Amino acid sequence: MTSEKNRIITIANQKGGVGKTTTAINLATALAAIGERVLIIDLDPQGNASTGLGIGRRERKLSSYDILVGANTVAEAALQTAVPNLAIIPSTLDLLGLEMEIAQQADRVFRLKTALSADDARSYNYVLLDCPPSFNLLTMNAMAAAHSVLVPLQCEFFALEGLSQLLETINQVRRSVNPSLDIQGIVLTMFDARNNLAQQVVNDVRTHLGEKVYHTLIPRNVRVSEAPSYGKPAILYDLKCAGSQAYLQLASEVIQRERQRKAAA
Ligand SMILES: Nc1ncnc2c1ncn2[C@@H]1O[C@H](COP(=O)(O)OP(=O)(O)O)[C@@H](O)[C@H]1O
Ligand SMILES: [Mg+2]
Repeated sequence: MTSEKNRIITIANQKGGVGKTTTAINLATALAAIGERVLIIDLDPQGNASTGLGIGRRERKLSSYDILVGANTVAEAALQTAVPNLAIIPSTLDLLGLEMEIAQQADRVFRLKTALSADDARSYNYVLLDCPPSFNLLTMNAMAAAHSVLVPLQCEFFALEGLSQLLETINQVRRSVNPSLDIQGIVLTMFDARNNLAQQVVNDVRTHLGEKVYHTLIPRNVRVSEAPSYGKPAILYDLKCAGSQAYLQLASEVIQRERQRKAAA
């Protein structure tokens, strides 16, 4: 049983550019700031979470690839970031070859779950998995290993398109590899109050998905988009900006939901 030791949350949406990585970095930083021990695992070969947390290519001696192939443990691959309490297992382009390498193996979907069930991984309070923008083997490993999924949805006209496919995938995962996979919540990102359509999208999403949608709206905020180029979470780059404040609020909602779940268990 790993369930009460830590919480593994996968941040997933098969669309690119919806705010997965930004959410992983800033939610992780907000959780770390209130004293939780947090680990991000970068599962996207593009490595944006690694770059955004200031981990340069040369520092990536060990990566998520190494834990997925079973060559190294989580403790060996985790790097401390500049944020106290926040570690990351970075990604490298090796991940691109992983699918081919392990495609024939019976446990190919459970590689991450196995790595995360070791004691060293369970010392983190939260493990956030930053997924690539597709339903590939990496995303499936994340969904098989996670307790819950957090879905970023960009406030745009096509926000709901693709979501039904994602929800269906989550159901398939429940039927096959991870029956207890929960939806932590759906977070609306890049909300632009000046765009008339945005409020309509928010209303539509709330109507369709109700309680699953967090109250927190992440605004479109230029400080949030600048921060990664300094290798810093927005919360460190500019704590006062609206985007950072929204991510702090999101973290308290995430924790609140975890408390409610524990109380109900
Ligand atoms: N709240 C925001 N305000 C402004 N820009 C944002 C915000 N969230 C994300 N971005 C920018 O949008 C782009 C895509 O975000 P990212 O988190 O990388 O998405 P994904 O991981 O889903 O591909 C990035 O350039 C990022 O800096
Ligand atoms: Mg990303």
